[in-house]
Amino acid sequence: MVSRVIPVEPFDLVIFGGTGDLARRKILPGLHRRFLAGQVTAEARIIGAARSQMDDAGYRKMVRAAIHEFGAPEDQDKAGIDAFLEILRYVPIDARGENGWQELAAHVRPGLVHAYYFSVGPGLFGDLAERLHSHGIADENSRIVVEKPFGHDLESARALNATLAEHFRECQIYRIDHYLGKETVQNLMAVRFANILFEPLWNAQYVDHIQITVAVTVGVGGRGAYYDKSGAMRDMVQNHLMQLLCLIAMEPPSRFDPDAVRDEKLKVIRALEPVDPHHIVRGQYAASGEEPGYREDVGDPRSLTESFIALRCHISNWRWAGTPFYLRTGKKLKARSSEIAVVFKDAPHAIFGQDAGQHRNILSIQLQPNEGMMLDVTIKEPGPGGMRLIDVPLDMTFAEALGEEIEDVPDAYERLIMDVIRGNQTLFMRGDEVEAAWAWTDPIIEGWEARGDVPKPYDVGSTGPEDALMMLHRDGRRWREIK
Ligand code: BG6
Repeated sequence: MVSRVIPVEPFDLVIFGGTGDLARRKILPGLHRRFLAGQVTAEARIIGAARSQMDDAGYRKMVRAAIHEFGAPEDQDKAGIDAFLEILRYVPIDARGENGWQELAAHVRPGLVHAYYFSVGPGLFGDLAERLHSHGIADENSRIVVEKPFGHDLESARALNATLAEHFRECQIYRIDHYLGKETVQNLMAVRFANILFEPLWNAQYVDHIQITVAVTVGVGGRGAYYDKSGAMRDMVQNHLMQLLCLIAMEPPSRFDPDAVRDEKLKVIRALEPVDPHHIVRGQYAASGEEPGYREDVGDPRSLTESFIALRCHISNWRWAGTPFYLRTGKKLKARSSEIAVVFKDAPHAIFGQDAGQHRNILSIQLQPNEGMMLDVTIKEPGPGGMRLIDVPLDMTFAEALGEEIEDVPDAYERLIMDVIRGNQTLFMRGDEVEAAWAWTDPIIEGWEARGDVPKPYDVGSTGPEDALMMLHRDGRRWREIK
């Protein structure tokens, strides 16, 4: 049973690239789920627009297949799918020409919320934005949704922002980073800003360091051509890990409103120091046995792109001066596991004779696979034998604590699309944030390109290259286990 769902007002959502991979995997199955939950009502209209010649019936057939393939097993009820398909339409369109635009305009109903999802390459953003205006279907109340990658570097991100700004105001532009739609990521804000417990300790005086790990077991899959031009730094660190870093490090905003939150995140990004090359380790998964390596996966035997990166960064402000933030992400690693760990300092005086670093409070925030939080607390080992200390976790795995309620939590895309309809930009990146993130990222990449750095090979199913372990070892610390 779905609880506490408030339907959104009727809307028209046009998905440019409506037959593409993202639409079939995420956007349409997500909208179907929100429809089943009663949040999207039968008065909504979803219009797929793409190059393929198809009619409504053909599109519905495609979407039904997508829901079968990518939807949750419990969402496969035929009547529910049939009812959802009723609200779908399809318009073949030429993004760079005039074909299809009048037909699209005829589908868009005046007076409703209009959202245009640009699920297409950034090269088409300008053409789409311009035609939406010239055909009179973009007004003050329209929103556009754009996906990452938002640019390849600062210059291209600026150019994209400028193109969009010619036609839309910032409050109409929703730049998606799907990590911000994850349940635990938002919980991070709730835990930090709705509890008094952590805030007094949330600073350089009490925190030894913070680790952010996003590990996946999959390789580059069919996205080799895109990925090989990006690498882990552009694909993951500049956006997803950066957003996690912001939420963990930012000052409490004065209100939970889009600009108050994004102003604080921006300050974190702007306070990031340049990264010392000694604090960067890049890796590339190597072939082993039958298993192809990264270079085979992308079809370039000389590729120097990283499928793994670990780095240490610093935020120069009063709260965090001197506290290292270790970021790590990679493909084909040991497990799919994403975690933020806040490792607190030792108690100031060891009355039980414990060694430095032996017992530490660690708050770990688990993003996936099991969302939850855990706080390692040091206690006395039960039984006779004196005052021996052990660390035990106070476990708050949400599925256990919240039972059934967690089962209906929308996935990141579902939540974010509903936020677009409701007109709430809190969980979307502002243009200046994206530019600031590139301004920090660009010199790091330029640095290793100028040095001709070669990524270190690592085994599929490992935790990344040995050098990444050594990087922390040199600092007298160790990575959290990937499990
Ligand atoms: C995407 C990246 O944005 O995020 C992928 O392009 C990555 O390379 C993915 O695998 C990770 O997302 P999630 O939600 O599976 O952790």
